[in-house]
This record gives sequence, structure tokens and C-alpha cells, in this order.
Amino acid sequence: MCDEGKKPSIRDNPEIRRTGESGIGMTRYVHGYSKREMRRLREQSAILSDLLHDGTRYEPGRRVLEAGCGVGAQSVILAARSPEARFTAVDLSAESIARAKAAVRSSGHAAGTFLRADIHALPFEDGAFDSVFVCFVLEHLDDPGAALRELKRVLRSGGDITVIEGDHGSCFWHPETAASRRVWECMIRAQALHGHDSRIGRRLTPLLRGAGFSVRRCGPRWVYGDALRPGLLDGMVNQIIVPMVQTAKERALAAGWADEAVWRRGIRDLERSGVPPEGTFFYTWFKAEAVKE
Ligand SMILES: C[S@@+](CC[C@H](N)C(=O)[O-])C[C@H]1O[C@@H](n2cnc3c(N)ncnc32)[C@H](O)[C@@H]1O
Repeated sequence: MCDEGKKPSIRDNPEIRRTGESGIGMTRYVHGYSKREMRRLREQSAILSDLLHDGTRYEPGRRVLEAGCGVGAQSVILAARSPEARFTAVDLSAESIARAKAAVRSSGHAAGTFLRADIHALPFEDGAFDSVFVCFVLEHLDDPGAALRELKRVLRSGGDITVIEGDHGSCFWHPETAASRRVWECMIRAQALHGHDSRIGRRLTPLLRGAGFSVRRCGPRWVYGDALRPGLLDGMVNQIIVPMVQTAKERALAAGWADEAVWRRGIRDLERSGVPPEGTFFYTWFKAEAVKE
């Protein structure tokens, strides 16, 4: 990394080491690795597949690094859309990596290479990849700028990076109640407690430029569900949003941001926004494409 000498390494942070799975410095990941969360990641990628992957295809033989692959929810889509590209996927979680590999195998595509590694210190040579793909990961990092610089290091000159991130500040729904807004804010606060930015989507262009990339495209990819799109509405609210907010419950209650009764009411109200004819829900992800010149 270009400025490693100036900042203490992420591995020197005792909090990160304490929460680590083992040797690798583990950033605190707000959503955790429960079976429910793994299911949510798979359902989320299926619901958003066309919206988020539109425009992303890799030519045969292209060496593509997927950074922070989780349980392979995006890996399966990437492999299906670009079956002859050569994928390498990394994640901090050994269990997620094993699941990602199994998911790609059982989808009938070439498995590629799966490795446990930290995005901040990748075990690859400079210029090892032609393309990098990152989805829903920068929002969980202590230093997304440093991670982007490390990704740039392993990209060859002329190589490209695609980054997709959400922005929790872009979200609104109906009916909106004080309790549903409260549990949503708890989710944002729980992530902020780790020093992580759940509103990072709007920062993609400055972050990429700050890491030295030349940004070619960046823009919102929004989803809106209502009674005219009941399947999308239900998927958004009940398969993506509510299970994601639930991952913050323990922290929110422990911190005293809500009590059990408020939490239950907030979740129930949030669920109501997924029920037609009254319910509506809107959220925006951001997708950026940039090049290492
Ligand atoms: C929200 S999940 C997204 C997974 C996948 N990209 C997807 O869209 O389904 C975020 C993933 O980033 C991983 N992660 C967090 N910090 C990381 C780091 N420093 N290095 C590598 N992976 C990391 C987590 O383990 C988790 O699997």
C-alpha cells in the first residue's frame, strides 16, 4: 500500500485482533455470519441481480478478483454472466469462503480460486488482475480508501474496478412511523459504532479518485416497490431490509438505543411497509466503474 508507513497497520489495532477469527486482522462486521444472514445475502443478490450486474461482463480469460465475496451470492452471478473469465475470490471469513466455493461449484460453473484474505493486505503480486469487483464491502471497512489502494496495487495498469455499495441515507418507506425510523437508525448507529459508513454509496467517486483511480461512471441504482410490484416490495422489505436491521438488535438493546418493546414495534412497522396496498419502499445503491491508468 502506498502510505503504509504513515499509518499504524490495521493489524496493530488490539480491538481488531481481539475480535478476529484467528491470525488475520478481522474488522468488526456488523451483520455477522449467522445462517439467517447468509440466507439474506443469497436472497438479496437474487432479487437485485439484474439491477446491480447490468453492464458488468468479463471477456474470456480475464483475471477477475472478487474482494469480499461472502457466501458467493455475487460470485455465482458473476460466473454465470462471464463463464470464461478466471475468477479469484477472497473474504475474511473461512466459513463464507467454503460456502462461496460450494455455491459456485453447485451452480455448474468453474469454481475459480477461493482464498481467505484481508482486503487491506492481499496475498497477490502487483498487477496480478485485469479487473476487480467489490460489492457491499467498503461500508464494512475501517479504512475503505486504504482498501481501494490495495486493490489498485493488485490491478494491472489499464485494469478496471467495479464497486457497488448501498447508502442507508437514501432509504424511505410508507407508512413511516417513529418506531420504524428508530430501528433503521439503530442499524446505522451500530455500523457507525465500528467506525464504518453505511452511507458510503454517495462517496464512491471521491473515494475512488482519492485512491488514484480514474472514475469512468458512477450513479444510483434504485429500487422502488409498491402495490404495483408486490413481489419486489416483499423481497426488498422482508428478505433484505428487515433481516438486515435485525442483525443490529443485540447491539442496539445493549447500548440502550431501544428496548425490547420499541424494537418489536419498529420491526412490525417496518414489515408493514412491505404489505400492499398501503406499503411502499425505496432504496438506492451506487455502482461505480473506474480504471487504473
Ligand atoms: C455484506 S457482505 C457482502 C458479501 C458479498 N460481496 C455479497 O454481495 O453478497 C460483506 C463481506 O465482506 C467481508 N469482509 C469484511 N471485511 C473484510 C476484509 N477486511 N477483507 C475481506 N473481506 C472482508 C465479510 O466477511 C463479508 O463476507
